[in-house]
Amino acid sequence: MSYMGSLSGKTALVFGVASETSIAWAISQELAKNGAKIWLGYQFRYHSRIKDIAPQLPNLAGYERCDVSKEEELEAFFKKLQSPIDILVHAIAFAPATAFEGPVLQTSEADFSQALTVSSHSLPKMVKYAAPLMSKGGSVITLTYLGGQRVCANYKVMGVAKAALEAYVRELAHELGPQKIRVNAISAGPIKTLAASGIPNFDLILDYHKSVAPLRDNVTQEDVARCAAFLASDESRMITGQTIFVDGGYSIVGVPALS
Ligand SMILES: NC(=O)c1ccc[n+]([C@@H]2O[C@H](COP(=O)([O-])OP(=O)(O)OC[C@H]3O[C@@H](n4cnc5c(N)ncnc54)[C@H](O)[C@@H]3O)[C@@H](O)[C@H]2O)c1
Repeated sequence: MSYMGSLSGKTALVFGVASETSIAWAISQELAKNGAKIWLGYQFRYHSRIKDIAPQLPNLAGYERCDVSKEEELEAFFKKLQSPIDILVHAIAFAPATAFEGPVLQTSEADFSQALTVSSHSLPKMVKYAAPLMSKGGSVITLTYLGGQRVCANYKVMGVAKAALEAYVRELAHELGPQKIRVNAISAGPIKTLAASGIPNFDLILDYHKSVAPLRDNVTQEDVARCAAFLASDESRMITGQTIFVDGGYSIVGVPALS
C-alpha cells in the first residue's frame, strides 16, 4: 500500500537524526517522499553530519540544534519554528555506557536518571512545546523496543526507560485525544545504528532475531519509516495510545521453532 502524497500540506518535526543509519533519517525521507515539509532537531555533536545530509531532503524546512536535556535549547528551537505543525517524531534514546556494564541491580541513580530523562521524559517535554502548534490536531510518534515489555538481554535500564516511554504514550494519548492529537509508539526490531552499537553483542541479537521472527528476516529503517508514515497520515485517524510492533512478528513467539 502506498501513502504517496497523503502528507502534503503537513509539517513534521523530526528529532533523532545523527547519521544516515538513524531510524529518524529513514522516517524523514519517507515523510518527505509523501509530501510533508520537514524540520530536523539534532544534537549539536552531530552538526557536521547533519549539515551534509539534511539538504538531501526534498522538503526541508530547516534544521536546528536541540538537546532535549537542555531546556534553553528546546525553548529556542520552538521559538524559531513559530509555525503550525502536524507531526512530531521523537526518535531519541540514551543511557551512559556504565548502565550496560554491570547487573541491573547495580544501576546507579545517576545512570537511571539520565536514561529516563533523555529517553522517556523528553517525550512529554517536547509535546508540551509542540501541542500548542497542533491547532488542527496532530500525530506524535516515538520509537520503543521490546525491552520495555519483556527482558531482552543486555538492554538493562533502557528496558525500564522504554516501559516508562510506553506508559507516557498512553497517558499523553488520553490527555491530548480531545484536541485530536494522537500519540503512538513503534516498537522496532533490532537495527544496526549508532545507538545500537552501545548494546553489547548486538550482532548476536540480530542473528537470533532473524532466526526466531516468523518472517525470518531483520527489520530495516525503511520498514519502520513506512509504519511511521502511516501513523503520521490521516489513514490512521482513530489509532492512538498504541505500541505497534514492526519486528517481523518476533514479539508473538513464546517458544521458537526447535529444529
Ligand atoms: N536500533 C534499534 O535496534 C532500535 C530498536 C528499537 C527502538 N529503537 C529506538 O529508536 C530510536 C532512534 O535510535 P536509532 O537506533 O535510530 O539510533 P541513533 O543513534 O541513530 O539515534 C539516537 C538519537 O538520539 C539522539 N539523542 C540522544 N540524546 C539526546 C539528547 N540529549 N538530545 C537530543 N537528542 C538526543 C541522538 O542524537 C541520536 O540522533 C531510539 O529511541 C531507540 O531506542 C532503536
